Amino acid sequence: MPRVVVAGSFNVDHAWHCTALPRPGETLAGTYMTGPGGKGFNQAVAAAAAGAATTFVCALGKDEGGRLAHRLAAERGIDLRAQDAAAATGTAGIFVGADGGNSIVIGPGANAGLTPDFVAAQGDAIASAAVVLAQLESPVDAIVEALRLARASGVHTVLNPAPANAACDRALLAVAEILTPNETEFAALLARHCGDRVDPAALAPMDGERLHRLCRTLLPRGTVVLTLGAAGCFVSHREDSLRGDGAAHYRCPAAAARVVDTTGAGDAFNGALAASLALHPGQPFAAVVRQATRFAALSTERPGAAAAMPTAAEVESRYGPA
Ligand code: RIB
Repeated sequence: MPRVVVAGSFNVDHAWHCTALPRPGETLAGTYMTGPGGKGFNQAVAAAAAGAATTFVCALGKDEGGRLAHRLAAERGIDLRAQDAAAATGTAGIFVGADGGNSIVIGPGANAGLTPDFVAAQGDAIASAAVVLAQLESPVDAIVEALRLARASGVHTVLNPAPANAACDRALLAVAEILTPNETEFAALLARHCGDRVDPAALAPMDGERLHRLCRTLLPRGTVVLTLGAAGCFVSHREDSLRGDGAAHYRCPAAAARVVDTTGAGDAFNGALAASLALHPGQPFAAVVRQATRFAALSTERPGAAAAMPTAAEVESRYGPA
């Protein structure tokens, strides 16, 4: 069975659904819920729910949050490779507005303790995977190690450079075969690595040729999948490596959704994209992306993060065959 390895964070999410996001100095009443999250774990759950054998490499505290991660991974058939950390398991405080939009603060805790050595010790899983997927709520050197080992074994690498304020350096971009930023993350990367100042809000309506040029400047050797929320996403390939597609750049519309909570929608997208790449290696990349947009859309119809990830059967029942 083709395997996806996800390296990244686990958080215990504490979320409040409010009529609007709180402004500075404001106190609001909201409806509280808690559950599993962390971009890494959400992506691992999404990949497993999409049908891929999944390994999750992370760092956990020896506490209730850590035990929750072990229990949920076992329930979902995820091969959990957790480094024991002295710090408490990661946490996140999330406000969700009536439109499903959110604001998030994370307490990295144990996630900050993931080491390159621990990642390297999972080299067996990484080298035999079809796809390695990572994000940036864990130390950059550990994430570089995961992607570097994957590339050394000819394994596909997908880097979701989230959150936008994380340090995504050149060493990391060099080992990313497919990069999946959202608008804010893309604008931050352009400013840091290309000296281009672009308003994130200007990206969705931007002319495709111009967007393609920006993507090529940022990641000349790889594919960029720029996620644009309700506007779907934009794909930009290197001209001589189209991954089965007929064009070097194109847009993919978002799937319809009755949005309740967008928390983890990007994670659903990334986990499903990695699973689809692993399970159907020969299919055109456009089909991989279309499937990922469906998983992302359906995840927004449910509250929560990891708990909101849909299964392949649920996606097919809602949107039809892939
Ligand atoms: O992407 C959503 C996730 O971001 C949440 O689950 C939260 O834990 C933060 O990591």
